[in-house]
Amino acid sequence: MSWNTIILGAGAAGMMCAIHAGPDTLVLDHAKNPGEKIRIAGGGRCNFTNIYASPENFLSENPHFCKSALSRYTQWDFIELVQKHGIPYHEKTLGQLFCDNSSKDIIQMLLAEMRDAGAELRLKTSIQSVSKTDAGFAVETERDGKRETLHCRNLVIATGGKSIPKMGATGLAYDIAQQFGLNVLETRAGLVPFTFPDGRFKPLSGVAHPVRATANHTSFDEALLFTHRGLSGPSMLQISSYWRESQPIAVNFFPEKDIFEALKARRKSDGRKNIATVLGYELPAKLADHFASELKLTGNLADQSDAQLRALSDALTNWQVTPAGTEGYRTAEVTLGGIDTDALSSKTMEAKTVPGLYAIGEAVDVTGWLGGYNFQWAWSSGFAAGTAI
Ligand code: FDA
Repeated sequence: MSWNTIILGAGAAGMMCAIHAGPDTLVLDHAKNPGEKIRIAGGGRCNFTNIYASPENFLSENPHFCKSALSRYTQWDFIELVQKHGIPYHEKTLGQLFCDNSSKDIIQMLLAEMRDAGAELRLKTSIQSVSKTDAGFAVETERDGKRETLHCRNLVIATGGKSIPKMGATGLAYDIAQQFGLNVLETRAGLVPFTFPDGRFKPLSGVAHPVRATANHTSFDEALLFTHRGLSGPSMLQISSYWRESQPIAVNFFPEKDIFEALKARRKSDGRKNIATVLGYELPAKLADHFASELKLTGNLADQSDAQLRALSDALTNWQVTPAGTEGYRTAEVTLGGIDTDALSSKTMEAKTVPGLYAIGEAVDVTGWLGGYNFQWAWSSGFAAGTAI
């Protein structure tokens, strides 16, 4: 059978591309259901975009590459689509938009748009091989033990990154890119919790506090969450995309407050109280106890000199920790790196050296921050390829 366009992957990017690629389009996926990551995203309510999305919120070897696609299909375009389908949504925090009811609303919306566009979806179909033909490409598939070779003029790689293999993530996008001579940059797990196998934070598991986390000259002001494995929460997930092995992370537990001045003022009002008790007014009790023991704090607040209070506030505003590693692709929300943007047109996502071959979504070396940015990249890059086809 022959199609104008075959899209490999019925995730966020593949479905958006199918909506715009014209009626003679087939979408293939080995999963039982389309858009599985949309379904589980945002705790089942899917943070589908961010009202502040702009190119600064993305990591890539070429930070300019995402500009064109993001400007031609913006967060406002996607919001308009969501509104057209009457899907209720709300802003949670920092511009992050979530469904009021369920992520399934977004999946149903994409499927309805695909049907209207005349695109066909085939699930439970594995991709055996892809090859170049005179007229375009041949895709060998297998479904229920039956092999079939499909032909197309345009082939879109939309099989995502390596994150969460349990949900069907594979490295197929990179294999196909390499097969056609496109460079693939080294991949890493991003938006992922940090691990400390020595279990040092186990007693603090469940404690959360707003912090400023810094690594590699980049900072995020969001919550830190201690877990039995190590450090998580939005600040840690964000900074994990910038962190490199064996580097320390700097954590400021008081990004909004001059804790030195606050402790000095308390020395006047609460001087007879134990220093650890006073710290408990500023931090969750378990965390205050942890620091009191780590920093060997003893005595009353009145006993502390300015220099001691300065040392304490320095420790709390520049706490340095070096994770042993991250939880890796097993729990990472995204994959950093991937298909080199140098190989693609930023306007159309078409491979510069292979006419008719496109790559979109997470498979490409464009990775967003936590907060709806990665779906926005999937929508924008899917639209760019779909409208170009
Ligand atoms: P995506 O991974 O969505 O789709 C790829 C498709 O290809 C899948 O359907 C897969 O089955 C298929 N496929 C893979 N290999 C194949 C093969 N060999 N053969 C056939 N089919 C194959 N982002 C965001 O903006 N807001 C959020 O709230 C969240 N939340 C979130 C939670 C969790 C737990 C994760 C893991 C990720 C997120 N993300 C997110 C990130 C977001 O889900 C991700 O960036 C997009 O889904 C990427 O869209 P793609 O279409 O590129 O890949």
